[in-house]
Amino acid sequence: MVASEIRALFAVASRPEVVSLAGGMPYVTALPLDMVGELVADLVTKRGPVALQYGSGQGDPHLREQICEVMRLEGINAGANDVVVTVGSQQALDLMTRIFIDPGDVVLAEGPSYVGALGTFAAYQAKVVHIAMDDQGIVPESLAQTIYALETAGAPIKFLYTIPTFQNPAGVTLNIARRQQVLDICQRAGVLVIEDNPYGLLGFDGEPMRALRADNPDGVVYLGSFSKTLAPGFRVGWALAPHAIRDKLVLAMESAVLSHSSFTQLAVGQYLTTQPWREQIKSFKELYRERRDALLDALEALMPPEVTWTRPAGGFFVWATLPDGLDSKAILPRAVAERVAFVPGTGFFSDGSGARHMRLSYCFPEPDRIREGVRRLAGVIEQEMQLRDTFGTSSARDHQGVDTPGPDLA
Ligand SMILES: Cc1ncc(COP(=O)(O)O)c(C=O)c1O
Repeated sequence: MVASEIRALFAVASRPEVVSLAGGMPYVTALPLDMVGELVADLVTKRGPVALQYGSGQGDPHLREQICEVMRLEGINAGANDVVVTVGSQQALDLMTRIFIDPGDVVLAEGPSYVGALGTFAAYQAKVVHIAMDDQGIVPESLAQTIYALETAGAPIKFLYTIPTFQNPAGVTLNIARRQQVLDICQRAGVLVIEDNPYGLLGFDGEPMRALRADNPDGVVYLGSFSKTLAPGFRVGWALAPHAIRDKLVLAMESAVLSHSSFTQLAVGQYLTTQPWREQIKSFKELYRERRDALLDALEALMPPEVTWTRPAGGFFVWATLPDGLDSKAILPRAVAERVAFVPGTGFFSDGSGARHMRLSYCFPEPDRIREGVRRLAGVIEQEMQLRDTFGTSSARDHQGVDTPGPDLA
């Protein structure tokens, strides 16, 4: 494990005068916090002896029922017995990696992929092989070719890790036709799929996408989370897995932490029972849609024409591509000096690529701040382009390992 070189820079970037388009923090201020306070107080006074006691390794049975109800919104028909509650979906990722990976084993992941997952894979010494992605998600041909090449070379592939819906960091969604293709390719090759889906219910148009897991209960382990639809501070996520894997997850969970916090599990359960959570998700979606629009409109109005970006239909992130010869990591200190921050693309690849990309998140700043942030960033990029035109291409610095910028930026 390596500390990110950019962590120190982000300490500066968290100052109030800096517009941070870097952080992936949900806007929890939009929650009815008084109500959450009452609910938590009630939990202690009325159910303290249970809420403050150890729980089971698999998680609170009632919460697991409620999780199944949440997953039904994405077409998943599952029983509470197949759910394991975890400390955020991050812990589910950690446990899955611990169970499946021996050093040197291959994990397939989109390129780019979620920085927290790449950090976990690196910690267990997995070899991450990236699969090409375009604005419709994973390219099935690239997946098939990569699996074939790895199999031919005798490299053991343990699973495909994918974020098919409103991907972090690219903001793209795997289209319906490709969903089936990806499942078919993996099934034929005997490759397990880990579907990480924390943003699936935060789509801006129409109904939620059908989860991959909905059409393949045996070949997909689904990871879910209340971090984006409620609040990450509860640290409640889950894994839905076929029986054999579920059993291992419970053992791994117990060996890691004995049991999840009963207190936060019951708090989330109580929230789901007593509060209009579907309405809350709707208001989160409206809030994030307005911020997405602010970011896209500002990019359109202010960025040099050579810069391109994705157009997310949900979630938190836009993935921007800089003109040839610009390196986002080299630009970051200058951007921070101009009071705007982003996450450089190299953090989202395990092979050092991504220097021409950056992740811009719109989940946290207010729309006006987003517009101001883009104005500052556009100025920095224009200056960089002038420097490039005067002095030639700045060569991207060598990059090794995975940047892990820290939880608030994940
Ligand atoms: C794709 C993805 N997976 C997992 C997580 C971790 O979420 P949790 O708070 O549930 O651990 C995040 C958080 O940003 C994420 O973006």
